[in-house]
Amino acid sequence: MNILITGGLGYIGSHTVIECINNNNNVIIVDNLYNSSIKVLHNLNSYLNKNIKFYEIDMHDINNLEKIFKENKIECVIHFAGYKAVGESVVKPLKYYDNNLCITINLLKLMEQYGVKKIIFSSSATVYKESEILPLTENMPLGVTNPYGRSKLIIEDIMQDMANADNEFKVVILRYFNPIGAHPCGLFGEENNGIPNNLMPYIVKVAKGELEYLRVFGDDYNTKDGTGVRDYIHVVDLAAAHIKAITAFDFESNINIYNIGTGKGYSVFEIVNNFEKATGIKIPYKVVERRSGDIGEYYADNKKARKELDFIAEYGILEMCHDAWNFEKGKN
Ligand code: NAD
Ligand code: UFG
Repeated sequence: MNILITGGLGYIGSHTVIECINNNNNVIIVDNLYNSSIKVLHNLNSYLNKNIKFYEIDMHDINNLEKIFKENKIECVIHFAGYKAVGESVVKPLKYYDNNLCITINLLKLMEQYGVKKIIFSSSATVYKESEILPLTENMPLGVTNPYGRSKLIIEDIMQDMANADNEFKVVILRYFNPIGAHPCGLFGEENNGIPNNLMPYIVKVAKGELEYLRVFGDDYNTKDGTGVRDYIHVVDLAAAHIKAITAFDFESNINIYNIGTGKGYSVFEIVNNFEKATGIKIPYKVVERRSGDIGEYYADNKKARKELDFIAEYGILEMCHDAWNFEKGKN
């Protein structure tokens, strides 16, 4: 298939480009380099021995975006492009609505105009309402607490409406849990400019000596050891899930939603311990106040993806930690 990958030079996008090409698809990437660099394209080309077609376009610019549809026979879109920092979205909500919603609407308009009927969308576990019942299944109540999450939920609704209006329009929504790790080759991973917000990017900076210690945001949650519990998934497994998701375009229902996680929750202390075990590097930490807006615990029920997509995550927590560090230590 000819697959257009929006945000294809980003963290999850670049890993998915590799999976798509390794599964004999032709890939076209659009990215405006807001949160990625052209070096990722060069690394993809040399690692895959390809010359991937790349458009450096801000997807707000619908005229430029249309060029991609004119110049290529796109058969399917995997839509990663967007902003993703929860905290920033609370401070700058319009920035998030403007980017995440407007570029998606531009993309969907062009798909409609050019008869492109298949899309896989990157949603997030953040769309679920906080629940005492775990694991989270796809049909559990939704509810968001920040503009980033709301932008994901609105996009899910827009795609649902389009699928209702046209039964040939096929949508797969993937709700990612917590992707961490990096490609085992050490060339691709999560880039971070400045002080990271998320746990693993912070830990690797502490391991590198660039940050003094990890702040553990609360040890008084009602969890196994009091610290926050999440469902971490290796980014290579997450990328592979997109290949499996392609099979859902042939299902009877034209909109299908899947949790993509391992189904296993790890606490912050467990992540620190596993990181130390995987790398031999001690991670100093201090327990501080809870982070505002955080939920104690959630993890995925991944049975639907397992049953319908035959998706099973293969990497374990030690590999996630090892590969995250392997990428970080190779950076200048
Ligand atoms: P990322 O920031 O690494 O990648 C997103 C890419 O989109 C970047 O390369 C960026 O330059 C590009 N982009 C942003 N706005 C654009 C625009 N207007 N025009 C063109 N390109 C644009 O993020 P990621 O971690 O790879 O996440 C990919 C998707 O998955 C996002 O939609 C994110 O919300 C979603 N998601 C991520 C996580 C996570 O923890 N990483 C969890 C759940 C969902
Ligand atoms: N944590 C710390 N110290 C840190 C960073 C995080 O103790 O420096 C803790 C958090 O309190 C939480 C856990 O580590 O208990 C994981 O936090 P992350 O920030 O890594 O991830 P979140 O689960 O808060 O959120 C992430 C993404 C969201 C996405 C969500 C999907 O940031 O965009 O996963 O599940 F929506």
